[in-house]
Amino acid sequence: MELSNYTKLMINKGVIMAGGTGSRLYPLTKAINKHLLPIYDKPMIYYPLSTLLLAGVREILIITNPSDKKFFQKLLGNGRFLGVKISYKSQHKPKGIADVFNLCKNFVKKEKFFLILGDNVFFGSYLSKYLKDAMDAKTKCVVFSYNVKNPQDYGVISYKKNNTKILKIFEKPKKFISNDVVTGLYIYDYSVFEVFKTINFSKRGEYEITDINNFYAKSNSIENINLGRGITWIDAGTFENLYSISSIIYNIQLRQGRLISSPEEIAHKFGYIKKKLNDKEFSYKNEYYNLLKKIKNA
Ligand code: DAU
Repeated sequence: MELSNYTKLMINKGVIMAGGTGSRLYPLTKAINKHLLPIYDKPMIYYPLSTLLLAGVREILIITNPSDKKFFQKLLGNGRFLGVKISYKSQHKPKGIADVFNLCKNFVKKEKFFLILGDNVFFGSYLSKYLKDAMDAKTKCVVFSYNVKNPQDYGVISYKKNNTKILKIFEKPKKFISNDVVTGLYIYDYSVFEVFKTINFSKRGEYEITDINNFYAKSNSIENINLGRGITWIDAGTFENLYSISSIIYNIQLRQGRLISSPEEIAHKFGYIKKKLNDKEFSYKNEYYNLLKKIKNA
């Protein structure tokens, strides 16, 4: 894909949800925010951040718990080292993913924007192409689906008859519906702030992202981009998944001698940063920075 064509269709803003309690990872997350835990050689938040950079997003809002904000700021600052603008907002209570729409209105204003969950890892050869297709969609909402063996742990899609259009999404259903689940990556336009006003707390006491998406499904304004098997998607919110994705990243990087989901590499390749990757700023003596330095034209 020609980068010049690609950048013309960009969505410029993205929000990362990095709050919540992380209780499924206790005691790991008792003192440390889940999204700062390592996935092999990078903090977890580097992965959703890389997905946004790959999509061409240059203005990013990170939403997290008030007491954890300073740690994200220490890690990522204002984003200048990546040639992007990063700002932060506190979520005072974990009121659910859709609470994001209470918190990001001033940031996104009237623009279309990406929302990504801070524990979601995406990578694979055609990821940029999928992201581009999604940005081209004419609908008010876009979701990305993925085929999994354990759909009951996610938002599960039921389809319209003889059709690939979404009829309804069921949040963690007990009964089998399909193997296609909604991942934690979404695009919305500003209509979402009105849709948010129509939803209430769910039985588990949260504003559910699935209720928002079902509003769009009902009004035929949702696009579903199905990620094929060339893409790896995992949410790193359980011990098994955290261990498993760390090991996948380790094994691929070891085999290829290339980094997966390095925001510095993407920022460099997309021309967001003019600095060379062997500048002092990127010159710590370990394998992460050694691999960065090896990037062509670094
Ligand atoms: O990962 C994809 C799944 O994410 C979807 O299939 C589901 O439809 C969607 O509801 C969501 O399910 P989870 O059970 O994985 O959501 P969880 O509560 O673990 O939250 C996901 C991320 O959002 C997590 O990284 C923390 C962040 N979060 C969560 C809540 C509830 C917040 O920042 N604030 C919150 O209040």
